[in-house]
Amino acid sequence: MVYKVPFVNYPEHYRRMWNEVIGAISEALSRGDLLLRGQLRQFEKDIASFIGAKYAVGLNSGTDAMFLSLKAAGIGPGDEVITVAHTFVATIATIVHCGATPILVDVEEDMNMDVEQVKRKISPKTKAVMPIHLNGRLCNMEKLMAIADEYNLIVIEDAAQALGAGFNGKKAGSFGLTGCFSLYPAKMLGAAGDGGFATTSNEEIEEKMRLLRDHGQQRTTGKILYYGFNSRLDNIQAAILNVKLKYLPKWIERRREIAKTYHEGLSDIAEVKLPQPPTTTGPYYDVYQNYVIRIKDRDELGKFLEKNGVEIMVSWRIPNHLQPSLNLKHFSLPKTEKLSNEVVSLPMYPELTDEQVHYVIEIVHDFYEHQ
Ligand SMILES: Cc1ncc(COP(=O)(O)O)c(C=O)c1O
Repeated sequence: MVYKVPFVNYPEHYRRMWNEVIGAISEALSRGDLLLRGQLRQFEKDIASFIGAKYAVGLNSGTDAMFLSLKAAGIGPGDEVITVAHTFVATIATIVHCGATPILVDVEEDMNMDVEQVKRKISPKTKAVMPIHLNGRLCNMEKLMAIADEYNLIVIEDAAQALGAGFNGKKAGSFGLTGCFSLYPAKMLGAAGDGGFATTSNEEIEEKMRLLRDHGQQRTTGKILYYGFNSRLDNIQAAILNVKLKYLPKWIERRREIAKTYHEGLSDIAEVKLPQPPTTTGPYYDVYQNYVIRIKDRDELGKFLEKNGVEIMVSWRIPNHLQPSLNLKHFSLPKTEKLSNEVVSLPMYPELTDEQVHYVIEIVHDFYEHQ
């Protein structure tokens, strides 16, 4: 089906910077810059500075950014790590792959971790907490960092959906021991395929993650310092990302503008619960990786939007703790379960035209007028 408003529009995204991107790829190929070369170092330097962290380590995915962060922090069997169920399964999977035990807490109205519940779940085995900054909005990091300091917990931020988002003037990825970012194509800054990176201001962790991503090899001495992994961010991806990074502030502005239009256009429908509108006052600076609304008759609205040419997504239809194969059903998370029945993501990306945004608003209105 050809959508009037597709959920993502990669061809249009690349059409707008075609020559620059192709130029960057040609340059990297003609120089033979494929792995661990200048373009990667440049990307790491610039993205760390954008976020306000000392270092960034380019990796093959956001998943590996979390996995290698946990490994570098020494999390393993016998340890507990507190996180939420309302996240992409990767967050929980990385804890399990380290041999640690995930402890899940519920979420608040803004779909982020209920920080008060974290405190209640701390045990002598708790080593770390992994907040997720969902949909481009930070978790309340003031409260969370205070708890982490009090109980001596490591904080690993899942900032896969929050590049550029802020809280109290600091950006996602600059609070915890590490910040973990995904460069999946649809993210705030997307690679032309898979990619990710981790930020840190801790030199020891930075060094360890550089080694872990490259089989534990210290290339200058030939020594193997750890059993590592192959998790390098490719140079061609880094070359493309260097072109794209300079557009990121404009893309964030455009996402916030679209969020404002959605908010103004939909706030008169009592049945629809909207995300917070963009503000420049108050602690939160939201970047709207996703624009997620909540309604009781989610599936009916979803079908109506699709029938009228608006592509939608539901994240996530089955909460992770209710996925039988994950062995997490001992957690009781009523708010997460309610959310999974109510959420719908509307199209949200910088290339959306004003006409497309207004069309989506019109179709949502039509749905309620025909009820
Ligand atoms: C909240 C969250 N965490 C982790 C990830 C995993 O990132 P990646 O797909 O780059 O491994 C994603 C990406 O989809 C995500 O949205």
